[in-house]
Amino acid sequence: MSLVLRPRFLSVHRLSRRAGLRGALSVVAPAVVIVATVLVPVGARAYGGGGTPPPCANSGCTTAFAAALPVPSVLTPTSTDTTTDYYTMTERTANASIVPGKTTPVWTYNGVDNGNYLGPTIKATSGRAVKIHLVNNLTESTALHVHGAHVATASDGAPMDLVLPGASRDYIYPNNQSARIQWYHDHAMDNTATHVYKGMAGMYLISDPQEAALNLPSGANDVPLVLQDRQFNSDGTLAYSLDSSSIRDGFMGDTQLVNGAPQPYFKVGTRKMRFRVLNGSNARYYTLKLSNAQPITQVGNEGGLFSAPVTSSSITLAPAERADIVIDFSKFVVGTSVTLQNASGYNNAGDLMRFDVNTSVTDTSTVPTTLRPFTALNPADSTVNRNFTISQNNGSWTFNNQVYGMSRIDADVKLGATETWTFNNRSGQDHPIHLHDINFQVLTIGSGAPPANANQKWKETVNIPAWSSAKILIKFVDFTGTYVFHCHILEHEDKGLMAQFRVS
Ligand code: C2O
Ligand code: CU
Repeated sequence: MSLVLRPRFLSVHRLSRRAGLRGALSVVAPAVVIVATVLVPVGARAYGGGGTPPPCANSGCTTAFAAALPVPSVLTPTSTDTTTDYYTMTERTANASIVPGKTTPVWTYNGVDNGNYLGPTIKATSGRAVKIHLVNNLTESTALHVHGAHVATASDGAPMDLVLPGASRDYIYPNNQSARIQWYHDHAMDNTATHVYKGMAGMYLISDPQEAALNLPSGANDVPLVLQDRQFNSDGTLAYSLDSSSIRDGFMGDTQLVNGAPQPYFKVGTRKMRFRVLNGSNARYYTLKLSNAQPITQVGNEGGLFSAPVTSSSITLAPAERADIVIDFSKFVVGTSVTLQNASGYNNAGDLMRFDVNTSVTDTSTVPTTLRPFTALNPADSTVNRNFTISQNNGSWTFNNQVYGMSRIDADVKLGATETWTFNNRSGQDHPIHLHDINFQVLTIGSGAPPANANQKWKETVNIPAWSSAKILIKFVDFTGTYVFHCHILEHEDKGLMAQFRVS
């Protein structure tokens, strides 16, 4: 990948990070609330004959709503038995078709799928194991991590547990977890940001019978949406730069992709649709909203289904967070459209994709008012308090003034213990902190107030706002061994903001 000088949007960027994302939203929101627009033929650009075409809106020179939304194909097992589904994935280079008339070299799991670089979706069933035979046909070492998996360390894809070029390895996931949205991505030491940016990510969805009984929209009406941003060179290759600015803020591209396509359109009927939304960007935050200001119903997050649906006008996702949402298109007139937007946008954020309501259909799906029982951990059961201070030192990011050290244990935890961890953010950047192995509950963010709907959800990634803090409650169950926790702004992770806990 060649280097580019990134355009600087730092005044806005720094302001939004310092003000907190919700503060930024209130500034941006009025400008982006527009009514549903009548569908116009794709390609009917407004500039007409004779004049000079407008300059490209982004480095990929892509046109909004010109590409159809790709839906990554579901990976077929090579075999199955009574306990396990067996898969093979080969990591290799390929050429993706993202920007018009050009090819983009990418790194993939199993090559491109109709020009799309995203890895295939793995559909797992709660209680049935998945075994992935991973073959590394790349020129660098890799580590496959299923983000959110409650799994033994040998299959966790720790950053130093590498699969060398030409080698292969079997990863085994028991999937003793309830229905939820997980995803997989590369996790190689120091190279996670570049490997993921080059394309190495895909969806991993767990389903269970209780979820199926809810009668949420399913089948073709249940669609993953992977949100990512990329920057392109004029020859179509991916542009990336790791400099002091992207080490500080994370790297953000100016071209918005959903499922690997730039600002795609998606045809829907007049019905409810379920979307499994993943923030798969290296560093960008998304505050999702619909252009007609219609509320979005959220039924779950990275920790699985909520106890009850939550309806709100916007949903903010830090890097690696997921939202399990239902959008009701039944009130739309056939022939109208609505745009999914990022209201926290800087550096060409804005429109993510457009839903074109094109057929009248009947809808027998439901969104029940109760989804899944939630049991809160009890803060009184906590026996250990730990504090982790986040700061930037000499171009690196640190927990308690130390960059990641693979031979250092930062937290020695007893199996079965409940602990309270406090993250103090002494920087002007937000940091989404992710724990491997275990889900937790968020007690407070900032000065004492419990976060919204905290009594309804498990988490494994929590955003620590700039100059603020968060307190989480964790019960370490089932697995012993050493796991990492880290910031999921991938440039921060690679530049030191990672540490280890050992359960024994
Ligand atoms: Cu999504 Cu340690 O990773
Ligand atoms: Cu960070």
